[in-house]
Amino acid sequence: TSSALTLILWAVIGYGLGSIPFGMVMTRIFGLGNLRQIGSGNIGATNVLRTGNKAAAALTLLLDGGKGAAAVLLARAFAGDDAVQLAGLMAFIGHCFPVWLGFRGGKGVATFLGLWLALAWPVGIACCLTWLVAALLGRISSLSALVAAAASTLWAVGLGHGQALVLGILLTLLVFWRHKANIARLRAGTEPKIGQK
Ligand code: G3P
Repeated sequence: TSSALTLILWAVIGYGLGSIPFGMVMTRIFGLGNLRQIGSGNIGATNVLRTGNKAAAALTLLLDGGKGAAAVLLARAFAGDDAVQLAGLMAFIGHCFPVWLGFRGGKGVATFLGLWLALAWPVGIACCLTWLVAALLGRISSLSALVAAAASTLWAVGLGHGQALVLGILLTLLVFWRHKANIARLRAGTEPKIGQK
C-alpha cells in the first residue's frame, strides 16, 4: 500500500488531468460557439456533437477518455494499486467537478470508459460494447451511458476484476447522479436521440 503522501499526490494528478474540459477546448478551437448554450449545455462529446461537428465530438470523446486512461497508466507506472484506483476515480471527479469551471463539469462517461480500459481492459471493452449496443438499439447517449455504467460492475466481477468492485460501484452511482436531468427527460420521453438538438 502507498503512503498518504503518495496517495495525495496521485489524487491531485488524477484530478488535474480529469479537470481539463476537452469539450470546451475543442469547441473553442473549432469556433463552434458556447457549449453551455447548446443542447443540454453539458461539456461532453455528446453535446459537442450537437454543434454538428463530428471531428470535434470525436476528439472530445478520445481526449476525455484518454485523460482517464492516462491517470491510471501514469499511476500504475509509478505507484501501487491503491494509487492507481484513486487516480482513476479522481480523474472522473475532476471531469465532473473541474475547479476551472466553478466545479460545474460533465457527466464522466468518456472518462469512465477510458479509466476502465486502462484499469482492466476486458472490462473497458465490455463497457464500450455495452454502450455501443445500447446506442444502436436506443439511439440515446445518456440511456446508453446508464446501461453501460450499470453493467460495468457486473462485467468487473464476471471478468475477474472484483478487486475494483468498490471503485466500480462508486463510479456507477456517480454516473447515475450526474445524469439526474437526463433520467428525468428519459422518464418524460423528451430525451433527444444522438446528434439531435
Ligand atoms: O456523456 C454524457 C451523455 O451521457 C449525455 O450527454 O449532453 O445528452 O446530457 P447529454
